[in-house]
Amino acid sequence: MTAPGLWPDSFDFAGFNAPIGEEYAIDNVEVEGEIPREIAGAFFRAGADPKFHPTVAKDTFLSGDGVVSRFLVEDGKVSFRIRYVDTPRHLAEVQAGRALFGAYHNPYTDDVSVRDLDRTTANTTPIWHAGRLFLSKEDAHSYEVNPHTLETIGPWTYGGKLRTLTTSAHPRFDPQSGEMFIHGYEAAGPCSRDVAFCVVDAKGELVSETWFEAPYCAMLHDFALTENWAIFPIFPTISEIDRLRAGGPAWIHYQDRPSYLGVLPRYGQGSDIRWVKGPDGLSGYHIMNAYEERVGDTTLIHVDHNVMETNIFPFIREASGIDASPADIRAALMRWTIDLDRLEDGWTETALGPPGDMSRTASCDQGRPYRYGFYANYDPGVGPPHAHSVVGAGFNCLQRIDVQSGELVVLPLGPDRSVNEPVHVPSAEPSGAGWLLAVVDTHSTMTSELWFLDAGDIAKGPVAKAKLGRRLRPQIHGSWVSMDALKASVRRPVDED
Ligand SMILES: [Fe+2]
Repeated sequence: MTAPGLWPDSFDFAGFNAPIGEEYAIDNVEVEGEIPREIAGAFFRAGADPKFHPTVAKDTFLSGDGVVSRFLVEDGKVSFRIRYVDTPRHLAEVQAGRALFGAYHNPYTDDVSVRDLDRTTANTTPIWHAGRLFLSKEDAHSYEVNPHTLETIGPWTYGGKLRTLTTSAHPRFDPQSGEMFIHGYEAAGPCSRDVAFCVVDAKGELVSETWFEAPYCAMLHDFALTENWAIFPIFPTISEIDRLRAGGPAWIHYQDRPSYLGVLPRYGQGSDIRWVKGPDGLSGYHIMNAYEERVGDTTLIHVDHNVMETNIFPFIREASGIDASPADIRAALMRWTIDLDRLEDGWTETALGPPGDMSRTASCDQGRPYRYGFYANYDPGVGPPHAHSVVGAGFNCLQRIDVQSGELVVLPLGPDRSVNEPVHVPSAEPSGAGWLLAVVDTHSTMTSELWFLDAGDIAKGPVAKAKLGRRLRPQIHGSWVSMDALKASVRRPVDED
């Protein structure tokens, strides 16, 4: 359990966001309805759950210790387990019996006893590649975790080959080659403008690592990948070393500084990067998809993502002196299009759909022309905001958008529920729409359920629910791993033999 006492008085620690601090397993989760038999595999989730009271008066949900959880689905049955990611930070704090690390993303606020320790919480994304599971955050290397036992194995540096000090929580995959592409910002240390870009082959070998310099040290959370290009969105949420050294907030959003898209051939050198300049003050975190379109003699690149007029995180807006409530922030799912022959013209934007976040597609659609995207949004007409997840108001709708026709299918969840990021599970039939899995949280009962939806007809609601009967702290990101892939994993289920 978490340490008793008072937590900071904010939504980050209230309602569904209240710390839990338990590791446990449930063999037979109650299932309502019938789970389609073709859904067989593991839904891994990364989350944040602080074990000890923070050392700073204000703290963010994002600072919490990493927890990894797994819903294992097979033959219509579901089991569940959850464990802390045993990072050096977590182990040191458990040994000390108190928090030792300070403010979010600011190593200069840490206890002197841990100045040389890796301060990542590895709480953001479970990444599956080449038979291994990694828990990642963007401020250090990822940590390998045994997918069967959820035991932490250690930091992953590709046999010591990695030069960058960080790898992000949002790698991109080529669904045809099986390659993984990863970036790392602050590659040379806190507030450095160096960004690393790495190619990892389908066998998990680091093939290349190249660096480029961003216009400023941006919170470069995600990037876009097409068949031939990597696109890096740079928004003016900026870290600066003097402020960090003074113990100040790591991230300030500047409304008066421009945004950029960095354009790099995906097998190019960092020196090949070209910059497209855009409007001031924009923000965004997650790319839904991107692809190339050949028009005459030129190539267009389309990047589909949620774009906001300012930063969405309350703790960043507060530090930046930006007075705006989430409901007042203008945002939309946008398509940004650049012409590779006319980068100096900037990008054109086309609104695709209502604002939201946590967008996903089928894995096979990544980087190619596609039709369907899935994401969550908050509709005030469905219900009041609930303390849930990192932005302070839980999402209460799941949506499927047809980016070709514009058709939007919405599943409103009612005034009492919040939904976490969905994950797409392919159908065994090549023509099948597949399935959408998402954890849905009910506020009146403080319980969490895993919902199974037909990805071709989400509006009809779940075909089955796995009812945990207890509360999960909201997930940050999740990943689906098929049973075949899980059985072929590098690590063995040593404690299950
Ligand atoms: Fe993310």
